[in-house]
Amino acid sequence: MSNILVLNSSVSGEASVSRLLVADAVTELTQRDPNAKVVFRDLAADPLPHLLPSTVAGVRATASTPAEEEARRLSDELIAELRAADTVVIGAPMYNFSIPTTLRAWFDHILRPGVTFRYSEAGPEGLLTGKRVIVVESRGGLYSEGPGQAADFQEPYLRQLLGFAGMTDVTFIRAEKIGFGPEFREQAVADSRAELAKLPA
Ligand SMILES: Cc1cc2nc3c(=O)[nH]c(=O)nc-3n(C[C@H](O)[C@H](O)[C@H](O)COP(=O)(O)O)c2cc1C
Repeated sequence: MSNILVLNSSVSGEASVSRLLVADAVTELTQRDPNAKVVFRDLAADPLPHLLPSTVAGVRATASTPAEEEARRLSDELIAELRAADTVVIGAPMYNFSIPTTLRAWFDHILRPGVTFRYSEAGPEGLLTGKRVIVVESRGGLYSEGPGQAADFQEPYLRQLLGFAGMTDVTFIRAEKIGFGPEFREQAVADSRAELAKLPA
């Protein structure tokens, strides 16, 4: 039985392209493994707190105050949820050329020195290996080709964040030109669905 962790971060609810495609990805995966256990986390509806001067030591150093201990507890919970997953599906809309701050806050909690990555003689080493990640990237414009490529701080950033924790098997599903009009949105959804259907078992 596989474990699937699903993270959504779009603020657009029913109108969201990434949420639609994330749901399709989950359907695709659970059709292949009907016994899969799926855990959903909605980072937009239930945002994680930003790290603060009063909490940061709980995640990045030693927790010694109640606020730091609470931050540590939350970080532990998120890491355990991630560690348990064989497959992670992430809905990542492009917001201001990068990712939603709610998704970034999740990375702030799960990237923990000595726990999910460590520094060695050979440089940084990600400790959450052996996972498969599917990222649905929805974008108003076009960034996979042409002049927009230079402004894509979403996909390279996500690749770096995930890879830093050891998650290097990442498939990006790009739904682009959503802002160009309904027919472009429809085309992007159809193309992305075709990509999802081709995901290896
Ligand atoms: C706050 C905000 C910032 C956005 N910034 C960008 C951007 O920098 N580039 C872009 O192409 N689209 C941008 N968009 C458009 C979204 O990427 C697009 O609507 C996409 O479909 C959002 O994903 P969703 O449909 O899953 O919500 C932005 C949308 C919002 C709400």
